[in-house]
Amino acid sequence: MVDFEVRPNRQPVPEAKRKAILASPGFGKTFTDHMVTLRWSAERGWHDGRLEPYGPFMLDPATSVFHYAQECFEGMKAYRQANGVIALFRPDANAARFTRSAERMAMPELPEELFVRALELLVSQDSDWVPDAVGTSLYLRPFMIATQPGLGFTLPSDSYLFCVIASPATAAFGAGDVPRPLNVWLSEDYTRAAPGGTGAAKAGGNYAGTFKATRQAVGNGCDQVVWLDAAEHTWVEEMGGMNLFFVYAPDGDGRPRIVTPPLTGTLLPGVTRDSLLALAPELGIATGQSRISVDQWRRQCASGELTEVFACGTAAVIAPVGMVKSVSGEWQIGDRRPGPVTLRLREELLGIQHGHRPDPFSWAHKV
Ligand code: COI
Repeated sequence: MVDFEVRPNRQPVPEAKRKAILASPGFGKTFTDHMVTLRWSAERGWHDGRLEPYGPFMLDPATSVFHYAQECFEGMKAYRQANGVIALFRPDANAARFTRSAERMAMPELPEELFVRALELLVSQDSDWVPDAVGTSLYLRPFMIATQPGLGFTLPSDSYLFCVIASPATAAFGAGDVPRPLNVWLSEDYTRAAPGGTGAAKAGGNYAGTFKATRQAVGNGCDQVVWLDAAEHTWVEEMGGMNLFFVYAPDGDGRPRIVTPPLTGTLLPGVTRDSLLALAPELGIATGQSRISVDQWRRQCASGELTEVFACGTAAVIAPVGMVKSVSGEWQIGDRRPGPVTLRLREELLGIQHGHRPDPFSWAHKV
């Protein structure tokens, strides 16, 4: 059993400054007073657990993560609920994905209970940093890096550092009652992930490879890139930081249907994606997982069969998509405004996260 040594920060952010940050946190800009760290070595396994002041690491310039990017991370949130309780949202699901990412990147497994204990420790210590407005939260970023110094590259590192940092957050792309619709860019030049690659792992390198295309998207008035499959450049996969859902008008049984691309190994298995697939049927919304091509997307929007599209992820929660652009053309979705199915799912999910709605799957993990 690993114990955590507690070293409180003797110079925490002054209360007035913290309150000003919490009033308008943005996303990923400011960090709390503490962090949790754990070390791993082949001889000792996980050891040296610490809750310590947030601050820089001292690392040898030859440390392998700087050269070969052996790294993985998670993104998750703690919410302040109506009764003042703080709850993590599905930390077990993030722990399981972290294990899968680490396995793919040839890194050691961090037991789920240790992962969750590290989060609980940081959130309890920095509980004053959890904002309370709906749509705001304390964003938690657990990550693991390879720390062996040296440029040898035939074997993975023999030592690792696990760390959790926390940052008060507004939902990325806006937390208001009516979220801003996104413009998305179909990348015809670049590919995010190929079969057999690391696309399903939450590894930093997957994100590094996307910035060039994202810059192109922003240059064309878009917020995010939609990635297509590597082989045919035809099938919609994900948006890099978010999964996509397509909303179809009610058919014979009167229920709208949400469809998302299947987990083929090249896209990230989002926890929000999984939560919506479980939650939608409770709200009378049918679900499906099937491939959708760019051509179908355009045609089904034009015919009115496809009424809404939204993106989902921990950081963004649920963000409507209003417009699709690419080098070869553009089209809009519905009237470009967030549709009723998108808003209904968003309201329900945020309601569970903030404890305003029943939690039928016991997703809230009280700290
Ligand atoms: C998240 O939604 O938590 C993510 O990790 C996506 C992005 C912020 C990189």
